[in-house]
Amino acid sequence: MLDSQPPDRQTIADRLAGVGYVADGALATALQLMDLLQRPLLIEGEAGVGKTEVAKALAAVHDTRLIRLQCHEGLDRADALYEWNYQRQLLAIKTREGLDADETEAHVFSERYLLERPLLAAIRQPVAPVLLIDEVDRADEEFEAFMLEVLSDFQVSIPELGTITATAIPRVVLTSNGTRELSDALRRRCLYHALDFPDVEREARILLARLPGIDTTLALQIARLIERIRKEELTKTPGVAETLDWAAALVGLGVTRLDEARETVFETLACVLKTREDRARIGREVVDRLIGKVA
Ligand SMILES: Nc1ncnc2c1ncn2[C@@H]1O[C@H](COP(=O)(O)OP(=O)(O)OP(=O)(O)O)[C@@H](O)[C@H]1O
Ligand SMILES: [Mg+2]
Repeated sequence: MLDSQPPDRQTIADRLAGVGYVADGALATALQLMDLLQRPLLIEGEAGVGKTEVAKALAAVHDTRLIRLQCHEGLDRADALYEWNYQRQLLAIKTREGLDADETEAHVFSERYLLERPLLAAIRQPVAPVLLIDEVDRADEEFEAFMLEVLSDFQVSIPELGTITATAIPRVVLTSNGTRELSDALRRRCLYHALDFPDVEREARILLARLPGIDTTLALQIARLIERIRKEELTKTPGVAETLDWAAALVGLGVTRLDEARETVFETLACVLKTREDRARIGREVVDRLIGKVA
């Protein structure tokens, strides 16, 4: 805890900016509520809008551990919660041959043989960590069901050991790209924030925060051009990571104004457009037209 009074949203935004994350007011409010109500925050948005980075920035702000559960198809309890170390259990059973069977059973189902996975690890941290459940829409719906106990009660039931309750309530961030509909039960337990691509002003601030030394006018021009490019019909809309790569490339190549470096802008579009179709769609004339509007 940084202070006893919950910080206001401007303070939250300032602290995030201090670790390089530029949040808008709505996200700062969502994070404020997350702390106030001690509820998980579900962040939904397109690829590259800065969902995962929110959790990393939160961990940096609170100077605490980031525990990450990367979701994927087939993710199960053993990957997410805990599993027993079967090999060590078997060895122990062998060495205890001839001893009391009940005692051996109690022994091998004790803490020593438990392998904790991210969800259990998160609730057992002495200092509240940030738990990132990333791309939850990639996991199967059944996975959500057993995650709910952790998200609503911050506890995990292990039949052989009993119920383990959180020592400190973790800050939980879930992200989703919306590739499938999440269950109502999961949504009900979380606060919700829809994260969009940043507007021009915020994207320029992101460039200034992440690329120290970039010229302010150039940052604004790049942010405006990216906004224009995103409005073109593309198969893969560039995210903030692409903007950052592109800006770093342009700065590295000595560009100071986009309108004075049209050829370089065109040649470096590989940082931003990642499919053959999109490269074909944004030809030299389109670049000229778009630069005309941002300069
Ligand atoms: N608001 C922001 N402030 C600072 N940097 C940002 C911001 N948003 C995005 N970034 C940068 O953009 C990169 C991409 O963001 P991130 O990985 O969080 O996107 P994502 O929404 O999780 O994408 P995906 O759905 O593909 O996982 C980050 O590494 C970070 O450097
Ligand atoms: Mg992500």
